[in-house]
Amino acid sequence: MSPTYRIASIPGDGIGPEVVSATIQVVEKLAQKLGKFQIDFTHIPWGTKYYKETGQYVSDDCLDTLRKFDAGLFGAVGAPDVPDHISLWGLLLAIRGPLQLYANVRPVRTFPGTKCPLNTATEGIDWMLVRENSEGEYSGQGGRSHIGQEWEAATEVAMFTRVAIKRIMRFAFETAQSRPKKHLIVVTKSNSMRNGMVLWDQVASEVSKDFPDVAWEKMLVDAMTVRMVAKPQSIDTIVGTNLHMDILSDLAAGLAGSIGVAPSSNLDPTRKNPSIFEPVHGSAFDITGKGIANPVATFWSAAEMLVWIGEKDAAAKLMQCVETVCAAGVLTPDLGGTANTQGVVEAVCAEIEKL
Ligand code: NAI
Ligand code: MG
Repeated sequence: MSPTYRIASIPGDGIGPEVVSATIQVVEKLAQKLGKFQIDFTHIPWGTKYYKETGQYVSDDCLDTLRKFDAGLFGAVGAPDVPDHISLWGLLLAIRGPLQLYANVRPVRTFPGTKCPLNTATEGIDWMLVRENSEGEYSGQGGRSHIGQEWEAATEVAMFTRVAIKRIMRFAFETAQSRPKKHLIVVTKSNSMRNGMVLWDQVASEVSKDFPDVAWEKMLVDAMTVRMVAKPQSIDTIVGTNLHMDILSDLAAGLAGSIGVAPSSNLDPTRKNPSIFEPVHGSAFDITGKGIANPVATFWSAAEMLVWIGEKDAAAKLMQCVETVCAAGVLTPDLGGTANTQGVVEAVCAEIEKL
């Protein structure tokens, strides 16, 4: 009997519902055409509307709710009339930390139909970015004192633990090892940050001993931004802290061509909890409701989800159809095209039909 996968669909805010709905259409079409598995999406209404109705972004039992699923597909969170730190901590960070989705994986490559803005990168970019997803500057450590006074003070403590560094480092070395170039860059800032970042370097060096076939090097984050622009071909896999990689991955998406095609996976590599897949982009208020959001980042995130749940072949077929459509010029305006979201969905479904 063919397996049935249960997926939590959390469209969230802004263009989130537009790109998630587009993706569900495409994945359901794929499952139906291939006939090898069933995929069952359950809608979960968490987001700003839910917050305005209930006072919180997610339900009290959100972790148990998610644990009933094989994986989650998330859109975006954030609304113009709610401060971003409330929405982000209310939804995404409320899930990533407690579920220990500690590896945030962001593949970046120049996609058919995107123009790599780097003139040095004639063959485009093909990188794998690994972001530590559970601590660092996102640990929630810190506070504000003397609020409203001239001498008001605020701290944001970056917390790093040996356990978390070690597990993300192992994951990054394994990722680098699985790629043809077997090359890893460990990004830190261990010149000026002499505690947490030095621990990162130290753990990297220890873990590297178990991966003699992976060539690795250290890089300071500021110098890394220059290398990404000036020597893109010298890069393969990168690992870094939650904050550093948040920034570097947006830069990478921009260098590859558009944030509208950039996917991400929030993984629990121990597989104790369901992993969550989402586009890198946010709610994009400026284009919400216009029907022109690029769904490709979410398609690609769903393909990563299919790989994770064990349907590698289906994922490859989905990506092949998406690339054919992009290469044929069926592109949304962010990529210089004139297609709308639904037009891209229909073109991809037509390709799937030909499989
Ligand atoms: P954003 O990613 O929403 O938008 C940045 C720019 O990229 C905008 O011009 C937007 O139109 C464009 N863009 C993004 N996705 C696109 C797509 N699929 N197709 C075409 N164009 C696309 O980032 P911004 O403006 O900084 O944040 C807006 C809201 O989203 C904020 O509330 C922020 O906190 C939230 N946000 C949420 C994230 C998440 O849920 N993972 C990630 C980033 C931001
Ligand atoms: Mg970001």
